[in-house]
Amino acid sequence: MMAKNIFISISLSIFFLQMTIGEVELRPGFYSTSCPNAESTVRDVMRVAMNREIRSVASVMRLQFHDCFVNGCDGSVLLDDTPTMLGEKLALSNINSLRSFEVIDEIKEALENICPQVVSCADIVIMAARDASGGPDWEVKLGRKDSLFASQEDSNDIMPSPRANASALIDLFTKFNLSVEDLVALSGSHSIGKARCFSIVFRLYNQSGSGKPDPAIDPPYRMELDKLCPLGGDGNVTGDLDATPIIFDNQYFKDLVAGRGFLNSDETLYTFEETRKWVVKYSEDQSAFFKAFIKGMIKMGDLLSGRPGEIRKNCRVVNSPKISENIPWLAY
Ligand code: HEM
Ligand SMILES: *[C@@H]1O[C@H](CO)[C@@H](O)[C@H](O)[C@H]1NC(C)=O
Ligand SMILES: *[C@@H]1O[C@H](CO)[C@@H](O)[C@H](O)[C@H]1NC(C)=O
Ligand SMILES: *[C@@H]1O[C@H](CO)[C@@H](O)[C@H](O)[C@H]1NC(C)=O
Ligand SMILES: *[C@@H]1O[C@H](CO)[C@@H](O)[C@H](O)[C@H]1NC(C)=O
Repeated sequence: MMAKNIFISISLSIFFLQMTIGEVELRPGFYSTSCPNAESTVRDVMRVAMNREIRSVASVMRLQFHDCFVNGCDGSVLLDDTPTMLGEKLALSNINSLRSFEVIDEIKEALENICPQVVSCADIVIMAARDASGGPDWEVKLGRKDSLFASQEDSNDIMPSPRANASALIDLFTKFNLSVEDLVALSGSHSIGKARCFSIVFRLYNQSGSGKPDPAIDPPYRMELDKLCPLGGDGNVTGDLDATPIIFDNQYFKDLVAGRGFLNSDETLYTFEETRKWVVKYSEDQSAFFKAFIKGMIKMGDLLSGRPGEIRKNCRVVNSPKISENIPWLAY
């Protein structure tokens, strides 16, 4: 009883300590004195990762979206499950899909070697996602803390399905103060990377329960997709999200206009009136796309949980697993 009280009171003081550092203000160059080579180190490791596997840049860019939408950009998506905490890695949108966590680990290791426990995992995701485009460059705001907790349930509740239509996506993005233009521009991230047959078979064979394919798909493209993803085939087979899946460009939008969007959530941006004008605009003007994409990534990066945080030593685990495992409510 006594020992337990002491434990709780120590935990509580740690908790309030973390509370005070929980309030953060993001700014560019946050590590310029504490870890001057932080940003160049991230860039170097990203370059190595890209040379090893070109797709990893897409996978890393996606991590920002899946981290920031679930309780803010706090590295929660990077936490492994523990016996008492179901994290986000096995959530509906992430299981057998979200990847390249090892690249984040490599960046963290390189940063721990030069400035131990200075750079947060949440900031690593933001810097790495910026470097991943290989196209437009921008200044990122930094100074985030890492969460003490991850929530599979929250991820399941929040992250959109590839079946979603544009109006559902607008509603979701609006909740995060992201505009229709932000939604379309950020979806342009699908200019790189791949998705599984699992994410599209319903639209190839049974769109909205009709027993028919999505009529918005360009017929020759549908034949290609049918071949790649036959009914009853391996759901883990992957296809390219646009016609130039290793180049970050506006090809994705040209494909949408031509009925060659891979996911339903992609194609619907063109078929719905509210989003179409932005798709058309970006399909015609790559620099307008880049500008809007940068704006969207910065706005998405501004999402914070307002909860206490820390600088993790290892992006996969909190620094004192006992505190949050034994008394889960203390994690907040
Ligand atoms: C608008 C709603 C969105 C939906 C419904 C959506 C859905 C998906 C799905 C289903 C996949 C493929 C998963 C799989 O089959 O394994 C995917 C991949 C991807 N998503 Fe999204 N996404 C959305 C927005 C975003 C945003 C905002 C970003 C980043 C800014 C993003 C970046 C990516 C990237 C880069 C990939 C390819 C990853 C890889 O190759 O590993 N997505 N997305
Ligand atoms: C879009 O999706 C929402 C949610 O699934 C649904 O309620 C709505 O009817 C759909 N809108 C249209 C026009 O299909
Ligand atoms: C959206 O903006 C409003 C008003 O500025 C703010 O109160 C709210 O917290 C923001 N929501 C998110 C998710 O950032
Ligand atoms: C298509 O979807 C509907 C509604 O979800 C379902 O009732 C039907 O059995 C499905 N058809 C096929 C062929 O899978
Ligand atoms: C994909 O592969 C994983 C791991 O081998 C397996 O558990 C899962 O069921 C497969 N998913 C689909 C949709 O086939």
